[in-house]
This record gives sequence, structure tokens and C-alpha cells, in this order.
Amino acid sequence: MRPKDPFIGRTILDGQFRIVQKIGTGGMGSVYKADQPAMNRMVAIKILHPKLVNRKDLTSRFRREARAMSQLNHPNTTKVFMYGELPEDGSLYIVMEMLEGKNLNQTVRRGGPMPAERAIPILVAVCGALEEAHSLGIVHRDMKPENIFICQQAGLKDYPKVLDFGLAKVTEAQMKPGSVILTQEGMVFGTPEFMSPEQAQGKTLDARSDIYSLAVILYEVLTGKLPFSARTPMEYIQKHVMEQPIPLNQRVEGKTFPAALEAVINRALSKNADDRYQTAGEFADALQHSLEPDATAPPVSQVQPSTPEPAAVEPPTPAPPAARPAEPVQSAPGTGLLIGVAAGCLLVGVILAVVIMRYVLS
Ligand SMILES: Nc1ncnc2c1ncn2[C@@H]1O[C@H](COP(=O)(O)OP(=O)(O)O)[C@@H](O)[C@H]1O
Ligand SMILES: [Mg+2]
Repeated sequence: MRPKDPFIGRTILDGQFRIVQKIGTGGMGSVYKADQPAMNRMVAIKILHPKLVNRKDLTSRFRREARAMSQLNHPNTTKVFMYGELPEDGSLYIVMEMLEGKNLNQTVRRGGPMPAERAIPILVAVCGALEEAHSLGIVHRDMKPENIFICQQAGLKDYPKVLDFGLAKVTEAQMKPGSVILTQEGMVFGTPEFMSPEQAQGKTLDARSDIYSLAVILYEVLTGKLPFSARTPMEYIQKHVMEQPIPLNQRVEGKTFPAALEAVINRALSKNADDRYQTAGEFADALQHSLEPDATAPPVSQVQPSTPEPAAVEPPTPAPPAARPAEPVQSAPGTGLLIGVAAGCLLVGVILAVVIMRYVLS
């Protein structure tokens, strides 16, 4: 039998909240449902794993999450009521609105892939939440289906709320003078399956990295599969950097999507951030238009990456994607550089091969 969670049944913050049950768990902590009798409501409380309280990097990340989320007011972002340190034992906590429903990963696992007519309004609303965060200089950096909650409460159906700003980065321009830059360039943070190429290489990220991750999410929600087939997190990282995604319309046998939608996803999945939609609002508009009956695919020049990429080499029957790691990866600073060098070498190899072939054939 597993030992009982020490938080369950506990009353915290001078009797304000009584923890009832665990509702989620991730790499950083656990999320509990708690009763707040004075307000006659249930809330969700995220508590950093007590064993991590001595990890300065993680405690500052947790505080950063709380600070970032409490600045945001968009209706599609989870509301934070308060945060701080429990006087009882020093554990860090965030009190949030309690959401009823399932996260997007659970929703797709149980209900299967969604039709575009259902998936697109969800993604458009998420773009709204991110647009507010981006306008405040906050990049989420860990957009994945587990971090989008699909509320089914108070008469709402499919109402998404963005969660987990645990890896969010407030851009330097937005930081107050004298504040410390907490992230180190060259570190790879995030979840491999949903990582933008620049994130996979440990480069500086902006809003356009979140747009890439949203496109991977949409691809998965529509097809039940990721745009690359890989067996390991490292392989996903490499493919985000070097390989073209498997075309949406070739991913599931017998399933077709409007050409305009495929083109919008391709553009958002461009390797070079300059070739993507530049804002979440622009991406949302394009998604909305992609379902209109007279929507046509944008001109090819708009959807092609600015630099030619080596063609995807796909096994005939792709293996199912490896189980997603429960927590985001944080690799050594050299990893991004190594991937970059590997990508460079491959590209040079391909170019050389083409030149030699031409020479031999001529
Ligand atoms: N406010 C909330 N209401 C209901 N469930 C939540 C809430 N916040 C988080 N959860 C659940 O807990 C899971 C983990 O929360 P998250 O904030 O993503 O933590 P982590 O940083 O550990 O990944 C989510 O995927 C979701 O299912
Ligand atoms: Mg999470």
C-alpha cells in the first residue's frame, strides 16, 4: 500500500483551507482540491514537493510561476487567488480557482481525436490567453495538452484554461531593474514532444516558440499522433530541429483535413520562427478562417520554410510515440549546442551529396 499523502485532511493557512483530495501531480508538485469554508467554495492548491524545498532553482521557478500567473487576467488563463509559503512547514503553495473537467491530454486519450470543428475553437481561445501573456512579456515555454484544462462546469462546455506557467519566462525587457535573470541560455527546458526547434537548441525564446508548440498540440488533438514519429525524447528533439513534419493529411489513413488547415499548421510548424505566424492572435485568425467553406490554402511561398530542410525519412509503419515523460526535461547546457552542430553537419552533408551527384551525373 502507498503511504498516505501527508497533505490530505490537513488544514492550512490558519484554518482557511482544508485539503480534501489530490487531483493532479507533475514534476514540481501536487495539486489538491481544498475547501475554503469562509468563501463557501472549493479551490485548487498546488504545493511544491516538500522534498524540493531546498532546491533553490525549483523554488525560484515555482515563485516565478505564481508571479506570472497572478499578473494574468484573461478568462482562458487559470486564476490565481494567492500564493506564498506555508507558515506550518515552509512549503510553497499557489491557491487557484478549482476547475472541473479534464486536461486536454486526458480528454483526447478518453474521447479520441477531435474533429476540427471542436478542436479549433479550443485552440483559438488558448491563443487569446497566450496573447495576453505574450503582451506582458511572458512566454509559457511548456505548452502541451496536459497544461490546457478543458472545463465542463457552470454550463460551460469545452472551455479551455491555460495552466502551469512553471517554465514561463518573463523576457528581460519586462523585468524590473535589478532583478536577476533566472534562466541560463543554453539550457534546454520543456517537453520534447512539443518543443520548438529553437527551444530544442537552447536558444532564446519568444512568443513564436509557444505558437509552434500550439501547432503540435493541434496536430495531436486532430490526429491522435504527433507530427514526428520517434522512440525517445532525444529523437523528438532532433526531429523538431531537422525534419519536416509528416503532412497532416498523410498521418492517419483514410482521414482528411481541409487543405487550408494543413497549410496553417505547416506554417506554424516552420523551423524558422520568422516563417511562422508572428503573434498568437494572427495564428488564431488563420485557424478560424481555415474552416470557412471557401478557405483556400495560402500561396506555397508563404508556407515553405526559408531554408530547405533534409527530407523526412519515415519507416513504413511508424512506431507509436514513446510514453510522454511526466515532467519537462532540463538538460545540460551543452545539449542544445550538440544538436545544433549535428544539424549543421547533416545539412552540410546533404548539400555536399547533392553537389557530388550533380558533378558525377554531368
Ligand atoms: N486549478 C486546477 N483545477 C483542477 N485541476 C488542476 C488545476 N491545476 C492543475 N490541475 C491538474 O493537475 C495537473 C498538474 O498541474 P500543473 O499545474 O500542470 O502541475 P505540474 O507543474 O506539476 O505539471 C494538471 O494537468 C491538471 O490535470
Ligand atoms: Mg503541468
